[in-house]
Amino acid sequence: MSSTANQRVLSGMRPTGQLHLGHYHGVLKNWLTLQNEYECFFFVADWHALTTEYEDPHIISESVWDMVIDWLAVGVDPGAAKIFIQSRVPEHAELYLLLSMCTPLSWLERVPSYKDQQEKLNNKDLTTYGFLGYPLLQTADILIYKAGNVPVGEDQVAHVELSREVARRFNYLYGREAGFEDKAEAAARKMGKKNNRLYQDLRKDYQEQGDAQALEKAQALVEGQQNISIGDRERLIGYLEGGGKVILPEPQALLAPASKLLGLDGQKMSKSYGNTISLRESPASVEEKIKKMQTDINRVRRDDPGDPDKCPVWNLHEIYSNDEVKDWVQTGCRTAGIGCLDCKGPLIDSILKEQSPIRERAREYQEDTETVRGIISDGCEAAREVARETIVEVKQAMGLEYR
Ligand code: TRP
Ligand code: SF4
Repeated sequence: MSSTANQRVLSGMRPTGQLHLGHYHGVLKNWLTLQNEYECFFFVADWHALTTEYEDPHIISESVWDMVIDWLAVGVDPGAAKIFIQSRVPEHAELYLLLSMCTPLSWLERVPSYKDQQEKLNNKDLTTYGFLGYPLLQTADILIYKAGNVPVGEDQVAHVELSREVARRFNYLYGREAGFEDKAEAAARKMGKKNNRLYQDLRKDYQEQGDAQALEKAQALVEGQQNISIGDRERLIGYLEGGGKVILPEPQALLAPASKLLGLDGQKMSKSYGNTISLRESPASVEEKIKKMQTDINRVRRDDPGDPDKCPVWNLHEIYSNDEVKDWVQTGCRTAGIGCLDCKGPLIDSILKEQSPIRERAREYQEDTETVRGIISDGCEAAREVARETIVEVKQAMGLEYR
């Protein structure tokens, strides 16, 4: 895998309703870290949303801009990351189609989310071609940017795995050009005598002894070459591992640190459970929702001691409170020294404090939709440039360049 690819991160989010604190703590905060470390591509996965919302797609158009505003409001930085909308980069669809030609049906049928989601979302008819194909669409999303890293939750790891298999198969089928070895050797000579020797030595160390460090060094050497063409670079990278050209590098899943934040009822925070606090929930509503939260069910009266481990309010304290407050909760709850409403007070304050700057920035963007649209236009254009390059290479490899 090339190191440029390694430095690229891609992630998408479906526009299917308001973002909530679960998205913030589970996904967006991770994006904020990543955008400072990698070249990031973050996109609104509107076509993905259609795979489940096709019967009633208005939720998608209603959510797209709010989602973008939420991203910007929490600090996703258009200067650091490319922010765009999937359907405005039609190359995703083109690659999806081309990949579909060589993807065995069984690979898609075997993706665990296929059957799982059909069962879980049994109020929807998901026996569609689009729903079966959606992990391949995700594969195209990733491969079109040659992203090396894909931050995902546990449930999406299998999709990244599929994209690795599809990339491997694609490279196997279309990376084998006539006279590959000769071309790779010629490309190696173009790096100069010294670099060529180093490249050959490292290649040998990797191929004969499986020395992974040698492979990495050789990849870095190739990536560092200023004066060779993209085609030669791919040959050199592919030649290191044997086979042929690496046209579509295999990505890796970057398992996002699992968020510990749960919903108001102690289950995973999710719109479908009705247990969320949205990112821009009004202060009054935050207060009301927290006050209404179920606590330890065994703590019936004020002077019954409680057990924070059996209380969803404690889960929120773990995220939002400092050690001092947490000690106060632990002791106060277990000795009945504090009541549940007392306990919830500092929590409400902390959530409101976290939301206040987000809400303010969101309001500014909402009042300045032109800026938001401009950010997205720029992001789409920048993403398209990269996507177009990949499509050209893919078509060349498949022999579809016959204009
Ligand atoms: N499938 C993801 C989800 O449902 C969203 C998504 C689409 C995505 N394309 C992606 C995530 C590419 C990571 C990379 O949440
Ligand atoms: Fe839960 Fe706090 Fe009440 Fe204990 S005091 S049961 S932790 S809300």
